[in-house]
Amino acid sequence: MKSDLELICDLVRECGMFIKNADRSQLHVDAKNGHANFVTEYDKKVQEMLRVGLHGIMPDAHFVGEEGTTQAFSPKGKYFIVDPIDGTTNFIKDYHFSCISVALVVDNAAEFGVVYNPYVDEMFCARRGHGAFCNGKRLQVSNEPLENAIVVFGTAPYHEELNETTFKLAYAYFRKALDVRRSGSAALDLCTVAAGRAELFFELVLSPWDYAAGGLIVTEAGGMVSDCDGNPLAYDRPCSVLARNMAVRPLSPDKAE
Ligand code: IPD
Ligand code: CA
Ligand code: CA
Repeated sequence: MKSDLELICDLVRECGMFIKNADRSQLHVDAKNGHANFVTEYDKKVQEMLRVGLHGIMPDAHFVGEEGTTQAFSPKGKYFIVDPIDGTTNFIKDYHFSCISVALVVDNAAEFGVVYNPYVDEMFCARRGHGAFCNGKRLQVSNEPLENAIVVFGTAPYHEELNETTFKLAYAYFRKALDVRRSGSAALDLCTVAAGRAELFFELVLSPWDYAAGGLIVTEAGGMVSDCDGNPLAYDRPCSVLARNMAVRPLSPDKAE
């Protein structure tokens, strides 16, 4: 019999195929709050597929999804925290770097994290205390210091007040590291650090559905995840995110001012 985590991966893979095979000829795009913040009918359809499918796997768990949800997160109880498409702008542009992100948070601690990139068929998953894997292969963060690092960052695009600090900090990292990258999917950025393909990721504000799953994948791969002030990630509100291996010394956003 399959475990709950395996059943969740099966469901997420099915949703991934739905995105990958999307009929792009008549994509319906709506604007949301903030600069270049969009939603398509695929975000909504995948969220509904996940809501129904996850309820079938774990009927006692609540559901919080980016595209509207009636249940508010509480630190007590079981919650699925779901981003049906992380990297919606990439999806709209057919950029092939988007994913589905599903976390199970139990009593305010991430228990399962699943992030699937259908374009390259990479299934990242972790269970608390049991390690992180990509397509069955165990993940380990790298051991490289900042001088040998690729630094991945998100631009917090829906928060214009953070633009300048974000780019100053990215510039400060660029001066000290090998190079910087901006992918368009925070959940995949976190998996990139977990896989040791990059050393550090930061974004000055994200929502729980962007980082709940990827954050667990990083810690289970031996990395560190917190907000940019070193506090644990919040699941009930947006916060900044800093994820890294143990060898990289992070720079402070204040110093970038
Ligand atoms: C966005 C992506 C992006 C990050 C934004 C997120 P969405 O999620 O993760 O990389 O920079 O802050 O909101 O809107 O594509 O689900
Ligand atoms: Ca997202
Ligand atoms: Ca999304």
